[in-house]
Amino acid sequence: MNDGNAAARVIQDLRGVVSSAAAGSRLPSVRELTARHQASPVTVAAAVRALVKEGLVETRPGQGTFVARRAAATGPAPDLSWQTVALGARRPGEDELQALLATPPAGAIPLSGGYLEPELQPAAALGAALARVARQPAAWQRGPAEGRDDLRAWFAAEIGLRADDMVICPGGQAALSSALRALAAPGDTLLVESPTYLGALAAARAAGLRVVPVPADAGGVLPDQLAAAFARTGARLFYCQPLHTNPTGASLAADRRGVVLSAVREAGAFLIEDDYARDLTIDGDPPPPLAREEADGHVIYLRSLTKPAAPGLRIAAVGARGPAGARLRAVRLVDELFVAGPLQQAALEFVTSPAWDRHRRQLRTALRARRDALLSALRQHLPATAAPRPQGGLHLWARLDEGLDDVRVAAAAATEGVIVFPGRPWFAAEAPASYLRLTYAAAPPDLMDEAVRRLSAAIAASRPTS
Ligand SMILES: Cc1ncc(COP(=O)(O)O)c(C=O)c1O
Repeated sequence: MNDGNAAARVIQDLRGVVSSAAAGSRLPSVRELTARHQASPVTVAAAVRALVKEGLVETRPGQGTFVARRAAATGPAPDLSWQTVALGARRPGEDELQALLATPPAGAIPLSGGYLEPELQPAAALGAALARVARQPAAWQRGPAEGRDDLRAWFAAEIGLRADDMVICPGGQAALSSALRALAAPGDTLLVESPTYLGALAAARAAGLRVVPVPADAGGVLPDQLAAAFARTGARLFYCQPLHTNPTGASLAADRRGVVLSAVREAGAFLIEDDYARDLTIDGDPPPPLAREEADGHVIYLRSLTKPAAPGLRIAAVGARGPAGARLRAVRLVDELFVAGPLQQAALEFVTSPAWDRHRRQLRTALRARRDALLSALRQHLPATAAPRPQGGLHLWARLDEGLDDVRVAAAAATEGVIVFPGRPWFAAEAPASYLRLTYAAAPPDLMDEAVRRLSAAIAASRPTS
């Protein structure tokens, strides 16, 4: 089942109700819509938000969703149907990204989401830094387009690049979008690990790139397959997460690092290293970034502070040597001019203060507790669901047993009050099996048992009857 179709069905259903109901009438609940359309609550929430934006419905926290007063007072809904022709087909991948970022419904346990739960975020330290900075008039002035020199130097020092090679971006997604557009033209091929971050797939498609998946296993991308894919497609760009890949949690094996870099070099290609999980390692110490081991400008390095700190700290950096760096800086300028000065300065204050190391130490312990609680609940309540133990990151990648449909299970789980993300959208081509991405960073450890009990009930309800 396609989530985009489900969203369209929910919207159509609600439009029908709105057109015939009086202003202020109560609309069906999220639970009813979820069941009626076999859609996940995140899809239903996205559909409701779309109608709120159009002014057709309004939500009242704790009470439900209602036909908007304004909609009724201004007569029939405007005719926007012409836009369907003007805009043409939707870009694939955007629905999944919206679903990924949807706010979970109240009362549901979130085992989905790309960020730390609020309790794990260093909000007090960030708030104090931002308040201090905001009082300084200079912070509000236009700074260098590439970002503050001292912040670029901090990112560069971590990987052995020069500060001049770095550009500050408002988060990893923006960095990734810009990098793809700076280094490739529409119609070019992007190789990706399979599965990979669905936001990268969406950004690639939005940039008009042809995405070609390369198989990966517990040791990361398969180097032989990567070399073959370069040769077969003529690709010049490979997107890779060598550390705690989202969604699988796998890291590139030590004996593959050099081979992968050689394949990239031989192809005269770039490797975009998305190092999103550098500060999310739970066991042991992370290996250095690939960028540190390559001097000839083949590796474009990307690191964001949103994952280890807070989603609102939208500060990331991309590092690229040579003309690629110049292209990247040019694209960033066109995209955004520059990133908000106060946020850059607050980020720098935070990562150069003792609070940063303290926070990372506490985070490691907290993530370990959550990961282990989720794994042990799975072992107890869903022993047939295989989930390898990731050494870091935010998620488990759980393989469902034969015959189960991941999208159906995710929809049923939402009805049971636990939000999980299906595996299918993380594959650029056919998924070889059914998976769920289970985020352990988004809920406290004492809820993991209950979350998996609910998931277990959802799985039981989703089994095909034969
Ligand atoms: C692997 C990966 N890269 C990049 C991003 C983008 O993160 P942000 O734009 O919040 O920094 C995400 C977010 O989920 C991610 O998982």
